[in-house]
Amino acid sequence: MDIPLYFYIAYRDLDRLSPGSVVTTKKVIDKIDLDIDGEWNILDIGCGVGQATILLAEHFKNSEVEAIDLFVHYLNVLDEKISKNNLSDRVFTYQMDMRDLDFANEEFDIVYAEASIEIIGFGKGLKEWKRLLKPNGYLIVSDVSWIEKPSSESRKFWKNTYDEVDTIENKISQISDGGYEFIDYVIVPMEDWRSFHNKLEENLAKLNGDKSTRDFVRQLKKEINVYRQNSDDYSYVFYIMRRV
Ligand SMILES: C[S@@+](CC[C@H](N)C(=O)[O-])C[C@H]1O[C@@H](n2cnc3c(N)ncnc32)[C@H](O)[C@@H]1O
Repeated sequence: MDIPLYFYIAYRDLDRLSPGSVVTTKKVIDKIDLDIDGEWNILDIGCGVGQATILLAEHFKNSEVEAIDLFVHYLNVLDEKISKNNLSDRVFTYQMDMRDLDFANEEFDIVYAEASIEIIGFGKGLKEWKRLLKPNGYLIVSDVSWIEKPSSESRKFWKNTYDEVDTIENKISQISDGGYEFIDYVIVPMEDWRSFHNKLEENLAKLNGDKSTRDFVRQLKKEINVYRQNSDDYSYVFYIMRRV
C-alpha cells in the first residue's frame, strides 16, 4: 500500500512522524532493565521512518530488531538508514498491518510502539499485543494523555480525533487491569512538539491542490493550533510495562 502524494509531501524529510526527539526516546529506552549486550528480540510497531528503530538497535547492540509499518514508502526510508548505519544483519523491515501481526506468540522481549497504538486503540493494542511478549517482556507504547484538566477546546478536538485520550492515572489502571506490571511513564516535552510542528508547518506551506489536499492541510493545521493554544493540557506519554 502506498500513501497519497499530499501525505508524502507533508512529512517529507522529517526524521520522525510524531512529536518526540532522540533525547526523549533515549530516556524511554533507558527505563528498560535489560542487559544492553543481551541478544533480545525487539519489535517496533508503526515504525514510520524509524528514528526509534535505529536507536533501539544501537542501544541493544547484539539484538535483532524487526520494524513493521503499513506503508512501503516509510519502510524504504528506514531501509536506507539501516544500510547507512551498517545494521542490515540485524534490523529488518516488513510491510504489515498492526491489526494482523504475523508473528508467533511469545516471540519478543521488547515490543515498542511510538505514537501508533491510537490506530488500533489503546485498550485493544494492550490486549492484542500481549501474546507477542515473552513472560516479563516489555511493552512500551506512547499515547495522547491528559496532563492537566483539559479546556473544552482540547476535549472537543480529541473527542473527534481519538476518543481514548485519558488521564495518566486511568491509563495506568488500564495497564494493570490488562495483566501488565506498570513500570514508569515519560511525558513527551513541549519542545519536542514545537520542533515537530515547526517542521511540519514548513512542509504544509508547500502544499496546494485539490479538495482532499486542502482538507488534509486544514486538519493538520487545526491539530497544530489546538496544541499551541492548549499545550499544558495533553501530550504523548510513554507507558513502560512488563507482561506478568
Ligand atoms: C504517527 S506515525 C508514528 C511513526 C513513528 N513511530 C514515529 O514516532 O515517528 C504512525 C505510523 O503508523 C503507521 N500505520 C498507520 N496505520 C497502520 C497499520 N494499520 N499498521 C501498521 N502501521 C500503520 C503509519 O504509516 C505511521 O508510520
